[in-house]
Amino acid sequence: MMMMMLRWNMNWMPMVCCIHSSHFYFTSLQLQQQQQQQQTLRRFPRFKLFSQPSFSSAPTSSPSLDTSHLRCSMPHNHNLRVAVLLSGGVDSSVALRLLHAAGHSCTAFYLKIWFQEDFENFWSQCPWEDDLKYAKQVCHQVDVPLEVVHLTDEYWNNVVSYIIEEYRCGRTPNPDVLCNTRIKFGAFLDAINNMGFDYVASGHYARVIHPSSDQMDEPSILELSQDMVKDQTYFLSHLSQSQLKRLLFPLGCIPKDEVRKLASKFDLPNKDRKDSQGICFLGKIRFSEFVARHIGEREGIILEAETGDFLGKHRGFWFYTIGQRQGLRLPGGPWYVVEKDIKNNVVFVSRNYFSFDKRRRLFRVGSFKWLSGQPPSQTSQIQCKVRHGPGFYNCSLEMEDGGDGIGDSAVVRLSEDDQGLAAGQFAAFYEGRTCIGSGVILESWDDQSFPVCTKALEIARMEDKSTLGNPVKIKVKPDSPQEVRSSTEVTSKAS
Ligand SMILES: *[C@@H]1O[C@H](CO)[C@@H](O)[C@H](O)[C@H]1NC(C)=O
Repeated sequence: MMMMMLRWNMNWMPMVCCIHSSHFYFTSLQLQQQQQQQQTLRRFPRFKLFSQPSFSSAPTSSPSLDTSHLRCSMPHNHNLRVAVLLSGGVDSSVALRLLHAAGHSCTAFYLKIWFQEDFENFWSQCPWEDDLKYAKQVCHQVDVPLEVVHLTDEYWNNVVSYIIEEYRCGRTPNPDVLCNTRIKFGAFLDAINNMGFDYVASGHYARVIHPSSDQMDEPSILELSQDMVKDQTYFLSHLSQSQLKRLLFPLGCIPKDEVRKLASKFDLPNKDRKDSQGICFLGKIRFSEFVARHIGEREGIILEAETGDFLGKHRGFWFYTIGQRQGLRLPGGPWYVVEKDIKNNVVFVSRNYFSFDKRRRLFRVGSFKWLSGQPPSQTSQIQCKVRHGPGFYNCSLEMEDGGDGIGDSAVVRLSEDDQGLAAGQFAAFYEGRTCIGSGVILESWDDQSFPVCTKALEIARMEDKSTLGNPVKIKVKPDSPQEVRSSTEVTSKAS
């Protein structure tokens, strides 16, 4: 067996295994045994492993590539040492192959979290074993070493517990933004900090433009990817300049359909595979289920906002976001969640959510992070995304003095209404194609929130709700409003 150099500092557990493409494979059985061992140690063991990367640049026959494909893989005119995050999906695999084709020395890293107990229902549907298998095959094709990095503790402490707290307060943060900021380009970047890599790369659809090597003090810039639909800058908008400086996104210059073609050209084993979400795999629905397990359920009532009618029961306000229409289990819909009474655990719903003339264009944002390290110089003509997707709003920012100094929070005014603003989600800001940063949407954004009638508010405050008796029989509405796609369905789809 190959010699393995063990590295750990006081935070690191000794290496338990090392996966190397051409030397040593772990079978899934071995992995399971390790998991069990680890689980007996502690519920969420801190457990990382590394081998010293061996920088291989095996000359393999790569298919001829258009130089335009490599534009986002070569920030400078010389070869680099690049740590590549590999998820087992097509995107990150193509990214690896592009970097390899550009002549860089690559080491691939597969990030893993182990929540066996919590995810027992999810892991069985979540093909992490497949992911790892494909990741190995992809590396093997070009003889690139692959390391598995376990970030369970970090994921738990920096993402999950934060989100659970937020849910408890009635807010619904986006796990994907946090995962990128705190795990992929947070804990992982820290962990490989001393390993001599020039850059860390991933299969994100976003462009990062680094200053030329003689102007390294200039900031790096995050731009929209060429594929405006796949663009993932929203998920990267909360990074700091020091994080951005170290990143490469080879797919930023290539549209998605071209990436698929490249996958075939490279004959990748996963060329026909669905996109994998890797460590940030939790979609919104699943994540709320997961969070619910930790917060538990608490039955509450559902009231119609306009009438105060008692329509049914729910499992706890934290399952519901404003604008949501799934999971209400009410007949005669579609029904939308329009308001929540956190204190009394009451959810208010309406069938008129999308036809009601409400202004949802003014909201407050806090916890800003600016990619340049500085707030923008002008705040009147910028653009904003309030969720992942191709849609932009024109907007203006009015910085507030929150006591800790100006610039900590701001009032955002959109040029149009948005019906799905939810506290806790990120708002990302842009100047043209440049993503300049993001902040978190705060609870109160408008004094014109959905008008809940007084009777409904009074019922919500009742101590003893058992006197309400049974829910009313819901009449089917004569002409249902048009089906409008709920914004909450599309917020959390990618890594
Ligand atoms: C944003 O503003 C620009 C310039 O004022 C205008 O051309 C563009 O159509 C606006 N976009 C939206 C989505 O309103």
